[in-house]
Amino acid sequence: MSTLEIKDLHVEIEGKEILKGVNLTINTNEIHAVMGPNGTGKSTLASAIMGHPKYEVTLGTVTLDGEDVLEMEVDERARAGIFLGMQYPSEITGVTNADFLRSAINAQREEGNEIPLMKFIREMDSKMEILEMDEDMATRYLNEGFSGGEKKRNEILQLTMLKPKFAILDEIDSGLDIDALKIVSKGINEMRGEKFGCLIITHYQRLLDYITPDKVHVMMQGKVVKSGGAELAQKLEEQGYDWIKEELGIVDETVELEV
Ligand SMILES: Nc1ncnc2c1ncn2[C@@H]1O[C@H](COP(=O)(O)OP(=O)(O)OP(=O)(O)O)[C@@H](O)[C@H]1O
Ligand SMILES: [Mg+2]
Repeated sequence: MSTLEIKDLHVEIEGKEILKGVNLTINTNEIHAVMGPNGTGKSTLASAIMGHPKYEVTLGTVTLDGEDVLEMEVDERARAGIFLGMQYPSEITGVTNADFLRSAINAQREEGNEIPLMKFIREMDSKMEILEMDEDMATRYLNEGFSGGEKKRNEILQLTMLKPKFAILDEIDSGLDIDALKIVSKGINEMRGEKFGCLIITHYQRLLDYITPDKVHVMMQGKVVKSGGAELAQKLEEQGYDWIKEELGIVDETVELEV
């Protein structure tokens, strides 16, 4: 079993504190969902774990099986087995999807032990078939001109090919039609097991209808303010967030606009 442990994580962006002490522990064989109103720091948490340079960790720790993740370079974090499926995946012209994936896989392997080309192609073909992706997506430039849903499917293709220990999936369901939602969920469910843990950031119960989370966390004002089981997501879907705010005495921050 592996463990990704986030302790009292404080993160600033351009001098503004966004995360104010996040605590979260995920083990392999578990799927956790993080929900919460817009702008409460969910994507910031994902970016900070992956080591986005804009996000400065001012306090707290992130460890993977006791190893300090925050000390690692971004590529080391990926090699250690952490994967981020982004809310807004970048487009990269000049690099085909297949080349990108093969490089990413080989970056995780020892030099001289690269994945054989035929094995790679066979695996990618079969995964693309499961995800019902057009064949030509392999040879197109990474995410360039991909529709919103195609980008999300492509993130899941990367996930199933890279087989990380921990995946953080940021709004992987946004922009997906109903069929794609089922397909993407199937891809994630197939990863479930002893060697895989997942943090799913989502706004909607409907994704969790297909992927039953072991735990659900609510983030507000840069903290995890409530955790529970799958039923918590159900309650949020029905009642929104006001009851949590009332329960915890959280007052909405006023937004300061510069004139
Ligand atoms: N690069 C940045 N520069 C300045 N502020 C930022 C930057 N990135 C994020 N923020 C601010 O940090 C706060 C948290 O943003 P974040 O993207 O983590 O929210 P979120 O919970 O993912 O929201 P959503 O549900 O809308 O995706 C927001 O107020 C946002 O404006
Ligand atoms: Mg976000």
